[in-house]
Amino acid sequence: MSLPTFENLLLGVSDGVATLSFHRPKALNALNEATLKELRAALIWIEHHAAGREGADTGGERVDVVILTGSGEKSFVAGADILEMKDKGFEEGEAFARLGQGVTRAIELLPQPVIAAVNGFALGGGCEVALACDFILASENAVFGQPEVALGIIPGFGGSVRLARFVGQPRARELIYTGRKIKAEEALRMGLANQVVPLTQLLPRALEIAQEMRRNSPMAVARSKRLMNHIYTMPIDQALREEALMFGAVFGSYDQREGMGAFAEKRKPTFKGE
Ligand code: CAA
Repeated sequence: MSLPTFENLLLGVSDGVATLSFHRPKALNALNEATLKELRAALIWIEHHAAGREGADTGGERVDVVILTGSGEKSFVAGADILEMKDKGFEEGEAFARLGQGVTRAIELLPQPVIAAVNGFALGGGCEVALACDFILASENAVFGQPEVALGIIPGFGGSVRLARFVGQPRARELIYTGRKIKAEEALRMGLANQVVPLTQLLPRALEIAQEMRRNSPMAVARSKRLMNHIYTMPIDQALREEALMFGAVFGSYDQREGMGAFAEKRKPTFKGE
């Protein structure tokens, strides 16, 4: 498979899993505009390789799960690039937030599940990138936080929206108003991180989780992800209607016939993602 290359990101694909690493060692992987644009391009490439896309299920060129991580042992992403932001005015500030929000939303809307393998600092924009992922696996040295108020700004890549959805308004208010940084164990207790593992186990565990997801129908996983994003803030009756509609929509698909047929025939299913 020929992979796109980037200046500030490393992309690798193996066994249906794309691993995308932030790679700006001099700035603890902080997100400048160039990196955000590269991330946007990488996500488009990954989306084109989802199951069910034309050609994606031929020649092994499928990406079923994505792992986002930081290169090095110290930082996932230490936030948006402060040095690049510091002289921005109102319009540039807003445009930068829209760029970051667009990219975090693209992570959320990607058909494939995205695992954030948080290997150190996930601060500001870094925490916001992790919050847009489907699963947060943290290393024991991970540090989360929204320290923007200490810089005279506020979270701008969706933090004020998503953090409260993860940990509830009271904790989100506390973290955002104090800018307090929390360690992995506290993030786990708050429900921000799904699991915590030693740093040496971070990528192996992320790959294990990815393969656990991959054993299932990629179509059903993508539909679950789409539904859960879509219904998150809906009143319960409307959300239940949406679930029933989506439940109906998967019947008659190749993967539904294959999954249930394989169960009936007591064999392993081979899914196509359609
Ligand atoms: N932007 C630009 N450069 C950064 C950076 C950032 N967010 N974070 C770290 N760096 C750079 C440092 O400037 C330093 O560069 P030099 O070696 O050239 O001086 C290098 O990375 C290493 O950093 P430190 O020497 O500070 O490393 P440390 O281990 O002592 O501290 C840290 C690590 C606690 C993460 C500290 O670097 C820090 O506080 N960084 C800023 C964290 C932050 O405030 N993030 C939020 C940014 S605002 C934001 O993200 C807005 C939004 O919502 C979109």
